[in-house]
Amino acid sequence: MARPVASGRRGGAVAPPDPWDPLIRITHWGIALAVVSNGLLNKPGGTVHVWIGWAVMALLAMRLIWGVIGPAEARFSAFPPDPRAAMSHLVDLVRGRPREHMSHNPAGALMVYALWASLAVVTVTGLIMTDGQSPVTIAEQKAAVAAGDWSMLAKSAGKEDDEGGLSEAAGELHEGAANLMLILAMIHVAGVVVESRALRRNLVRPMVTGRGKGR
Ligand code: HEM
Ligand code: HEM
Repeated sequence: MARPVASGRRGGAVAPPDPWDPLIRITHWGIALAVVSNGLLNKPGGTVHVWIGWAVMALLAMRLIWGVIGPAEARFSAFPPDPRAAMSHLVDLVRGRPREHMSHNPAGALMVYALWASLAVVTVTGLIMTDGQSPVTIAEQKAAVAAGDWSMLAKSAGKEDDEGGLSEAAGELHEGAANLMLILAMIHVAGVVVESRALRRNLVRPMVTGRGKGR
């Protein structure tokens, strides 16, 4: 990675990285854009939707691998899921005395895992619904049908009859997990705003550019 990431202990105090490393920033904003686009903007199940869906799968996979091999603050070990610590962080926040952490704070960490888990459900169910076909194959099929050639669809039609129930269940789950993710994302953004005010530090800037310190 091009630039060193400042993190860990600074002047004796624990601090999160400023900026976050480039892979975290790219995967974060890529995932956020994809979720908003597929959840709210494009045609559900359309070719663009599936292209973005495959891109988001790649971003999620990259981030999860980074959670094992990345720098200390990117690793899962830096922000373990710990409901007790999350609760005590929220109590400190309400009292106006939240503590700094070297990575995501414990409440933020639970949110991050919930977002990733919902995204994993959405992508797996999306793959089930589309029979694992790549966006290229789907686009080719649509083009063939538009040109009056239905032969490409003939093979998958029989399969669809057999797997109709599974695909329907996957569709329900897909919609439910996508909606849950949008709600979680709104709570996540509200959490970032509240935490930024409590810490008197702009938490968004290190996630965007890193130029001009967030503190
Ligand atoms: C960021 C990830 C995604 C989000 C937020 C998302 C969201 C949604 C939503 C809200 C719907 C409408 C559900 C309904 O009203 O029935 C939908 C439909 C659909 N999605 Fe996704 N999706 C994502 C990823 C994917 C992926 C990865 C695939 C496939 C590889 C996929 C394939 C589909 C299909 C085929 C439908 C149409 C289902 C139907 O015909 O009822 N999606 N998606
Ligand atoms: C659908 C929209 C969004 C999703 C799904 C999302 C998801 C996530 C995830 C998964 C992380 C963990 C990053 C990592 O460790 O790789 C994260 C962190 C973060 N997100 Fe978002 N995000 C969204 C929108 C936003 C927006 C709009 C903002 C800015 C206002 C934002 C600001 C942040 C910040 C500042 C962090 C780091 C928090 C910390 O300091 O611990 N996010 N987000």
